[in-house]
Amino acid sequence: MRVMVTGAAGYIGSVLVNQLLRKGYDVLGVDNLMFGGDAIISVYNHPQFSFIKADIRDIEVMQPALQDVDAVVHLAAIVGDPACAKEPELAESINWQGASTILELAHAQPRIKRFVFASTCSNYGKMDGDELITEDSPLKPISLYAELKVKFEKHLLNAEYREDFSPTALRFSTVYGLSPRLRFDLTVNEFTRDVALGKELVIFGEQFWRPYCHVEDLARACIAVLEADMPLVRKEVFNVGDTNENYQKKMLAEELQKLIPQMQVKYVQKNEDPRDYRVAFEKINNTLGFEITKRVPDGMQEIIKILEDGIISDPYDKKYSNI
Ligand SMILES: NC(=O)c1ccc[n+]([C@@H]2O[C@H](COP(=O)([O-])OP(=O)(O)OC[C@H]3O[C@@H](n4cnc5c(N)ncnc54)[C@H](O)[C@@H]3O)[C@@H](O)[C@H]2O)c1
Repeated sequence: MRVMVTGAAGYIGSVLVNQLLRKGYDVLGVDNLMFGGDAIISVYNHPQFSFIKADIRDIEVMQPALQDVDAVVHLAAIVGDPACAKEPELAESINWQGASTILELAHAQPRIKRFVFASTCSNYGKMDGDELITEDSPLKPISLYAELKVKFEKHLLNAEYREDFSPTALRFSTVYGLSPRLRFDLTVNEFTRDVALGKELVIFGEQFWRPYCHVEDLARACIAVLEADMPLVRKEVFNVGDTNENYQKKMLAEELQKLIPQMQVKYVQKNEDPRDYRVAFEKINNTLGFEITKRVPDGMQEIIKILEDGIISDPYDKKYSNI
């Protein structure tokens, strides 16, 4: 199977590309290299990897590229609330119009059978009570980023398709862990970096819940969908993560304290980022047998070790952030 991965040079994409190659897939990576291309240098000469530097909105490039693949994992996007808020028109153009065009072009290619879309648990916004949120819970996006994800997800799951075309939306938990394109603007990675480097951790919204998932497990979920029997995933949406991996921010600090007991933490009030949701992940587990392999403390340990070993010379470099 030849798989197109859009956003191949990104945080999740570069991990997915590696996993696909290791499993023997042919991979066509597409990325406009917004954050550079370092993350794919190690696979660049791999005989089963090819790469197109392009904007996913460039139909002249994407149409012929799609003629030559069996499946698409669509990750390319303006990622995160702050990045979308900063450039709303660009976000709408890439995350909505660009995604819709890719879907349409993919559907027009009879060879393409699978289309996996990276959505987000941010779609749930703020939960009302204490109930765990499932795929059937109402979507309450509270940012442009999530609004655009919800809009495309609805379009993806409700459109008419030929019978052998299988679109799937994956609502990813907030991701963490090591990747060839490291990001330190993600809560677990950011907290761990700051504490590992001896800074006082300043936390706002310490009571807010959020599910977290390791980047390798999110990539494994994309492959699980590509490999699943089509009726199990066609026009389906799955939360990706693990029900035991919902944490309040203060619980993240407590996990860090177990690893770095001398850490300092301060809780502050700030009316920002009110996303608050605890999510259930039974559907992907029951339907696809998907289970995570890493937990938040594993990711924290990875970050601590890579910083202790001095592998990253300046973890505050802006290339490690989407903001
Ligand atoms: N990081 C998370 O916690 C998280 C959570 C839920 C969902 N997601 C989704 O997963 C996907 C990947 O996220 P990530 O964390 O790897 O982000 P990332 O920013 O590291 O990767 C996105 C990649 O897409 C590329 N890209 C952006 N616009 C493009 C365009 N117009 N044409 C071609 N390439 C383009 C960028 O250059 C980048 O390499 C995104 O769709 C994101 O919304 C991420």
